[in-house]
Amino acid sequence: MDLLLLEKTLIGLFFAVTVATIVSKLRGRKFKLPPGPIPVPIFGNWLQVGDDLNHRNLTDYAKRLGDIFLLRMGQRNLVVVSSPELAKEVLHTQGVEFGSRTRNVVFDIFTGKGQDMVFTVYGEHWRKMRRIMTVPFFTNKVVQQYRHGWEAEIAAVVDDVRSNPAAATEGIVLRRRLQLMMYNNMYRIMFDRRFEREDDPLFVKLKSLNGERSRLAQSFEYNYGDFIPILRPLLKGYLKICKEVKEKRFQLFKDYFVDERKKLGSTKPVDNDGLKCAIDHILEAQQKGEISEDNVLYIVENINVAAIETTLWSVEWGIAELVNHPQIQKRLRDEIDAVVGPGVQITEPDTHKLPYLQAVIKETLRLRMAIPLLVPHMNLHEAKLGGYDIPAESKILVNAWWLANNPATWRNPEEFRPERFLEEESKVEANGNDFRYLPFGVGRRSCPGIILALPILGVTLGRLVQNFEMLPPPGQERIDTSEKGGQFSLHILKHSTIVLKPRSL
Ligand code: HEM
Repeated sequence: MDLLLLEKTLIGLFFAVTVATIVSKLRGRKFKLPPGPIPVPIFGNWLQVGDDLNHRNLTDYAKRLGDIFLLRMGQRNLVVVSSPELAKEVLHTQGVEFGSRTRNVVFDIFTGKGQDMVFTVYGEHWRKMRRIMTVPFFTNKVVQQYRHGWEAEIAAVVDDVRSNPAAATEGIVLRRRLQLMMYNNMYRIMFDRRFEREDDPLFVKLKSLNGERSRLAQSFEYNYGDFIPILRPLLKGYLKICKEVKEKRFQLFKDYFVDERKKLGSTKPVDNDGLKCAIDHILEAQQKGEISEDNVLYIVENINVAAIETTLWSVEWGIAELVNHPQIQKRLRDEIDAVVGPGVQITEPDTHKLPYLQAVIKETLRLRMAIPLLVPHMNLHEAKLGGYDIPAESKILVNAWWLANNPATWRNPEEFRPERFLEEESKVEANGNDFRYLPFGVGRRSCPGIILALPILGVTLGRLVQNFEMLPPPGQERIDTSEKGGQFSLHILKHSTIVLKPRSL
């Protein structure tokens, strides 16, 4: 209530100067800015456009304002790009110019003002972090080292579901078990660790702190203090909570994972059949003086957020679409039975021989893109884009969801139809070979985790479909696929109950 009152007072206060300032700005303007609604001082367009700048709302603006438009959100310039040509310009042709990241007041806290890799500006630090992270995380060798682990994790999910009679009758919230699996998939890579059960206290703590971090970061409720510096004091309470969550999280990463691994290292240099896990590589870089201890923890933080949630959301969306499209689910099951053989559990190498499985994954990532606006880009210096001047340090959003869902370039894009990737779009890959389809971005800041995400999605969805018939809960025709968008995330609103009827193999 207080906040609303303050907003109203401020609106009143500045209304008088608004018109005069606009006129003087327009007269004295030397920039050719992208089109956009006329801003008012202090607030810019914020009062007109509101907080919820999700991919669908931004698509509506693009339809009115064009493929490039500018919103002034208080002190922040927000440029939204909505065509494959302009996406190419931002991500490829001018990839260096637009290769930085913006952070808002909350991301400043969680990333220590860019001491991490995902949210740091384009430059030396980013290059070094990306290089250091490549060998431990982003090569095919990592896939080969850990694929057996991922196969074991989904096998454990299948066993747990099979031994739970409720799964086949009233159904279960499968997502909970898959979340444990996804943590295990990534914690095996990072620390050679896994959690046995959903109620493991360390897992519960970790999951809750990561969840808090995501909720706090993706929420729109702190926008006002980020956009309008004079309102920032009102955010003090929010930012204090962010700082506390950050401190607790980092302490947990350090005490229970990084330091534990260090201890192990001093007695037993390498584990896991003589192979190093990711943190061993990262700690080596620290010992060589390439990065600090804080940087090590920021790498752990980045993987927790960038890898686990995104892949989990995509698995969840994939399951939801398969439940709601039984014919597609059946076709996928038939393909696996035909290629791998009935009763033979699919493995990572099999996923490459299953075009329909690949098409189902691509279609899931197209219609239900986990990061529909990519991670915000930024130009450090003034730049040109689409014939317009872009002020330095603008936040650049590429509406990748719209590029992949625009009826002008896709046939019936609102339909979940994997066949499109075998028929009219058979040449389109998830690696950014077509600027209409960028679920992982493309270019310098594209997702390096694609190399892990696709095989994990393949074995997870494949094993579920070959072992179970997945259905909506009794009395429901389909499951609810309402979306929940955040600052740049898209996940399913309700974690649905799903019935899983075991197939007799
Ligand atoms: C289905 C799962 C995933 C999706 C849809 C996804 C998508 C994305 C997208 C759209 C970006 C931003 C691209 C841009 O701004 O141009 C990104 C960045 C990133 N992703 Fe992923 N990702 C996934 C899984 C993963 C995994 C498994 C990892 C790590 C193991 C990972 C690590 C990263 C990192 C480190 C960045 C930042 C790259 C940079 O700024 O240089 N992602 N991801």
